[in-house]
Amino acid sequence: MSKTLFIKTFGCQMNQRDSEIIEQLLGQEGYASTDSAKNADVILINTCSIREKAEQKVFSLLGHLREEKTRNPDLLLGVIGCVAQQEGERIKERMPHVDLIVGTQEIFRLPEMLERLTRKITTWEIATNLEASFVIPPFQKLLKNTPPSPPGPQSYKRFVTIMQGCNNFCSYCVVPGTRGREISRPVTDIVEEVEILVSQGVQEITLLGQNVNSYGQTNAVADGPVSFPQLLRRVAAVSGLKRLRFTSSHPKDLTDDLMRCFAELEVLCPHFHLPVQSGSNAVLKRMNRKYTVEQYLEKIAALRGYRPDIALATDIIIGFPGESEADFSATMDLLNRVRFHSSFSFKYSDRPYTRSAGFTDKIPEEVKGRRLTLFQNRQDEISLERNSESLGKIVEVVVEDCDKVSIKGRTGANQVVHMAATSASMAPGDLVGVRIDHAGKHSLKGTLTP
Ligand code: 5AD
Ligand code: SF4
Repeated sequence: MSKTLFIKTFGCQMNQRDSEIIEQLLGQEGYASTDSAKNADVILINTCSIREKAEQKVFSLLGHLREEKTRNPDLLLGVIGCVAQQEGERIKERMPHVDLIVGTQEIFRLPEMLERLTRKITTWEIATNLEASFVIPPFQKLLKNTPPSPPGPQSYKRFVTIMQGCNNFCSYCVVPGTRGREISRPVTDIVEEVEILVSQGVQEITLLGQNVNSYGQTNAVADGPVSFPQLLRRVAAVSGLKRLRFTSSHPKDLTDDLMRCFAELEVLCPHFHLPVQSGSNAVLKRMNRKYTVEQYLEKIAALRGYRPDIALATDIIIGFPGESEADFSATMDLLNRVRFHSSFSFKYSDRPYTRSAGFTDKIPEEVKGRRLTLFQNRQDEISLERNSESLGKIVEVVVEDCDKVSIKGRTGANQVVHMAATSASMAPGDLVGVRIDHAGKHSLKGTLTP
């Protein structure tokens, strides 16, 4: 009988992608993925340490799983991802029932490590080297041998990793410590992976990396220097591809050439996630972001020149050490000037080994909470206004989920759209025209157009 594998994934799309790779890798070893931890033979927790809360969730889940392990002593419990990378053996000290700890660049060792544990050759295993080696190359072969995904959301849209790591060293961020230095994947491998996926029926690709804009600037682009805009053009040219997206971006590396892609490439969706973090130059400087608010605004204006309908999203950290009332007002001003379609905003939290953890002038929790609420309330108002701009228009929507009663889809600008089903048969991945009749702050409602 085949062994069963359950992976719980926290954190970003990089982690989601890593979990998919692991499922395929272990699928080849006879593991069947399940969506329930109950009765699984192997449970892997793919962890995130970006904010304190994310890490707390991991440890509380591991605590709960102690019982599961008592009930079933043969269960193998592994911690992988960013917390595994950062905490290593300390996880075993806190949670002795953990059998396996694997960092972000060692996931390809999982089959051999699980094998040793299953055969009881070792009692526990750890692998946390971080030496800028790329985790992707063996995956190319794996993908060729993998049948297309069964129909569902994953069958028409997929992530493709183009780089890993980060060289920016924002003062608050764990990523250089958990994912290592920046390294780019060869263009030919990326294009080949996209071609394989499209030939299997995938229509939408999101290119992934911690900082995709600096693709090709560091290391290992085996087939010669290629910039991110050049890579985008190569991928956009893959025939059959309908939608192309990318994430994440750093404002300092947003070039005119990349902006031009939004005017040039039809498949590139009019949506850009460009984290600004703060609207105060003094705070940006202490965050080591390497741009000013004025430079950010200039880039936004230029981007809108190339693609007036582009929807902008951002990330904001509220209550960075030393953030004064005036600094916070500057962030509110920026929100009101750019009028982002959406944003992800977080209270600042100290992270291990970051420079800002050592800064003085920490902001009290209640002040962070109050500022966060003010920011989010204003963002909600703006999101509603932005979504209302679509009222009465006919937009192109990709169907994500559908049943006999209702259909859920997504616009190129990344807005979720709900519709009533009609007698026409629908499947995830179908492109449909929808007239927008209602706008909410988080989604739209519409009617299918014939
Ligand atoms: N505290 C709060 N938010 C953080 N982020 C990154 N590090 C921290 C931290 N220490 C946020 C940033 C980033 C997003 C992924 O998480 O806004 O863009
Ligand atoms: Fe979390 Fe960052 Fe690691 Fe992604 S790279 S899992 S966001 S800590």
